[in-house]
Amino acid sequence: MTVKIREASADDLSEIVEIERLSFENPWSRESFVRELALPFSRTCVATKTNGSSETVVGYLCRWLVADECHILNVAVRPFARRCGIGERLMRHAICEAKREKARFVTLEVRRSNLAARSLYRKLSFEERRLRRNYYGSGDDAIVMELRLDRT
Ligand SMILES: CC(C)(COP(=O)(O)OP(=O)(O)OC[C@H]1O[C@@H](n2cnc3c(N)ncnc32)[C@H](O)[C@@H]1OP(=O)(O)O)[C@@H](O)C(=O)NCCC(=O)NCCS
Repeated sequence: MTVKIREASADDLSEIVEIERLSFENPWSRESFVRELALPFSRTCVATKTNGSSETVVGYLCRWLVADECHILNVAVRPFARRCGIGERLMRHAICEAKREKARFVTLEVRRSNLAARSLYRKLSFEERRLRRNYYGSGDDAIVMELRLDRT
């Protein structure tokens, strides 16, 4: 599968929201993504697959770049396209951009039970820093993970 990464536009919103709903128990609304696209410090990129003239969004990543930190808010891949390296490509794209913009850290929160995502972040050298108990409610903890860019 040939996959490209580009910045998202309003035209991608329907597909982003569809992937979001397929990926999370409490998905973000369309309005949340509209807000993110309008915020000057927020950036959303999409991974796309092209077949002839038709392009499908197969994944997306939303992050904030504030001061010396890039904070990953959301990353998800269409279920049929998982385990093909797309999540990793999206994360590497965000990390490279953060380095270019002279950020010193990339941070994120991940559900303790989300072993696939934790494994992805560990593969990219993120370290598990601390636990936020009951962060997602109903006893679900978050792990705060961090990648130090000034050491790479
Ligand atoms: C987490 C997610 C984005 C990973 O995307 P993906 O495209 O399937 O991941 P990749 O194919 O790029 O995998 C890269 C690495 O992630 C890890 N990984 C991905 N899926 C995994 C799984 N099901 N089990 C264990 N490790 C997994 C592996 O370390 C993998 O490296 P490897 O292929 O060398 O073993 C995807 O599973 C997803 O969309 N999940 C639902 C949304 C979500 O939980 N997002 C994260 C919120 S914090």
